[in-house]
Amino acid sequence: MSEQAIRRAMTPGSFDPVTNGHLDVIARAAALYDEVIVAILHNPAKAGTFTIEERIAFVEEALAATPEVAARVRVEAFAGRLLVDVCRDLDVQVVVKGLRGGTDFAYELPMALMNRHLTGLETVFLPGDPSLEHVSSSLVKEVVRYGGDVRGLVPDAVHAALVERLRN
Ligand code: PNS
Repeated sequence: MSEQAIRRAMTPGSFDPVTNGHLDVIARAAALYDEVIVAILHNPAKAGTFTIEERIAFVEEALAATPEVAARVRVEAFAGRLLVDVCRDLDVQVVVKGLRGGTDFAYELPMALMNRHLTGLETVFLPGDPSLEHVSSSLVKEVVRYGGDVRGLVPDAVHAALVERLRN
């Protein structure tokens, strides 16, 4: 009998910072595929709120709470590269993205089509958890900056780091 190929997926993004919405999609991708690579893709010319090391640590720390998910997931950062090239190098067959609604679909569809055009890389969309539909990295940052409470929408360590970074 021939050896079964590993089904490897990628969940790419800026993750500046990771939210519970991202973590939901990562966990669901890990249930569907043998291995998931969380790819933190960043533009070296653009400063984010958190460094790449901090973003990786937030994802890894959050995953530690669910060892069965963490066992199938690894987190890596890539700068200044096309997603399709990273996926080819890592033998990733599919990109998994969460969709919170129509606005996400309008943003994601051209990228999915472009990636398919470039190398045939497919994208699978998962419907976002409705209880997290309003959660995005940019919105939680804005809310925290002006004194709002986003506990429960991001991991506790991310919440603490947001308060520390954006309110001082
Ligand atoms: O979290 P984001 O900002 O929605 O993530 C977007 C990201 C990083 C996944 C996208 O911009 C990307 O794939 N960048 C890598 C460069 C690339 O391949 N660009 C062409 C996409 S068709």
